[in-house]
Amino acid sequence: MDQRPIGVFDSGLGGLTAVHSLWRILPEEDLIYFGDTARVPYGSRSREAILKYARQDVRFLRSFDLKAILIACGTVTTTSLAALQAENDLPMVGVVEPTCRRAVLMTQNKRVGLIATAASVRSGAYEAALRRLDPEVTVFSRACPLFVPLVEEGWLDHEVTRLTAQEYLKPVLAENVDTLVLGCTHYPLIKPLLQDVVGPEVRLVDSAITVAEQAARTLTEMGIANDGRSLPTYCYTVTDIPLRFQTIGERFLGRSIQQLEMVKLG
Ligand code: DGL
Repeated sequence: MDQRPIGVFDSGLGGLTAVHSLWRILPEEDLIYFGDTARVPYGSRSREAILKYARQDVRFLRSFDLKAILIACGTVTTTSLAALQAENDLPMVGVVEPTCRRAVLMTQNKRVGLIATAASVRSGAYEAALRRLDPEVTVFSRACPLFVPLVEEGWLDHEVTRLTAQEYLKPVLAENVDTLVLGCTHYPLIKPLLQDVVGPEVRLVDSAITVAEQAARTLTEMGIANDGRSLPTYCYTVTDIPLRFQTIGERFLGRSIQQLEMVKLG
């Protein structure tokens, strides 16, 4: 048992989808959230820039005494997970592996769509994991760079977001996929809209749920889950405009974000 908090981070609001799942799956854990709202989006940047940002994010989070870090960001996972794990002596959970494991279990026709940021699609990390887990799976990937700014704008159920989704998903749906991986943690914020666009036949794989489940498995295996003797605490840190983060975050989480601080990365 370890009562220290779990650090959770993303480029912005997206990682709150993982927080939402963590509340359900690991309700006893204290969480420290970091959203790099000053530099979102990460997904349109180079691998080098993302790795540099991710290292700074992790360094900041490690100024707290944490027992584990959940990388609630597809873009950081696809580009930087291996480096971050090699450089840090605490468990770090990323979104790709657990999400792909779920996708290969879910697909019946072995045709899987993947939507993610440009950096994630370019990295090929999701495709490689899906094919390694099931060599018979064919993957149809599409980068959706406009989704992250639309989510950060709070346009979660907006006509512009719907039209954008229809446009992005047209070629993927034309491939007759039966499963669609939401490879960016911002996308579950628009899950109802995406489900509407793809129709009831296509099953969505939510990376925020799978990463939270993986975190639970890791804590249990390592014997460092919390026993829930005290009420959990949640602290949120961002690098810019906390008010907007709060408004949209609370709308999504359905709970108030009380302890929110704006921080500067060293
Ligand atoms: N939520 C992120 C992801 O999972 C990052 C999106 C971005 O900053 O571009 O990829």
